[in-house]
Amino acid sequence: MRGLKKTLDRVLSKAGVGSRTEARRWIAEGRVAVNGRKVQTPGAWADPDRDQVTLDGKPLRAANKVYLLLYKPKGYLSTHKDPEGRPTIYDLLKDVPEKVFSAGRLDQDTSGLLLITNDTVFGDYVTDPESHVPKTYLVKASALLSDDQLLRLRDGVELSDGPTRPAEVKRVRDSARFTFFEITITEGRNRQVRRMVEALGAKVLKLVRTKIGAIGIGDLEIGKYRALTAAEVRALQPRRSGTR
Ligand code: URA
Repeated sequence: MRGLKKTLDRVLSKAGVGSRTEARRWIAEGRVAVNGRKVQTPGAWADPDRDQVTLDGKPLRAANKVYLLLYKPKGYLSTHKDPEGRPTIYDLLKDVPEKVFSAGRLDQDTSGLLLITNDTVFGDYVTDPESHVPKTYLVKASALLSDDQLLRLRDGVELSDGPTRPAEVKRVRDSARFTFFEITITEGRNRQVRRMVEALGAKVLKLVRTKIGAIGIGDLEIGKYRALTAAEVRALQPRRSGTR
């Protein structure tokens, strides 16, 4: 990623000093300089590796890159703020000093793995459907599902926003009234697994994300987080040759 130019507002936000909106304001206010010259255009190009960018005369320091795996409990929102005051995942991340965000979301009623980072390139890669990063869920369906129904999930069902990509589907077990199965998808549309099961005429009673790429829950306690290992971070890096 060395030697790539970015717009000045992006350079500031990526350095972790604030949001892009804040950065645009600071730039317009004349608080930002590139190589000693005040620049008041947020869309001006700068190369964070080569240009000396300062805010209020102080050089930007590259933010410490943080990569965490959080086991989100049911009942927590993946958003920053909730007008109704419900708990959010950021309540669980209070002792993380960096300004982090979650790479993708889970519904309020879904528990399981979330990747938390301050690296926007990493976050974009993990959430972009074109990256095909597999996400695995354990599902409790409200009915006994036939092999044909599970095959339909595997081959792709029609949703309001288009057909789903082929998925991996494995029956885990049946109880007297419910089917438990595992599904791995590579998209991540809004409420996708719930809507896929609804397309079969059933409902999801319980949904847990158990894996992202090759990273599983392991013995992570619910509500807790841990740092990703360097190998785990590497395995989720974009393989790109061009600029961004
Ligand atoms: N699919 C869903 O339906 N909900 C989630 O939170 C994630 C995937």
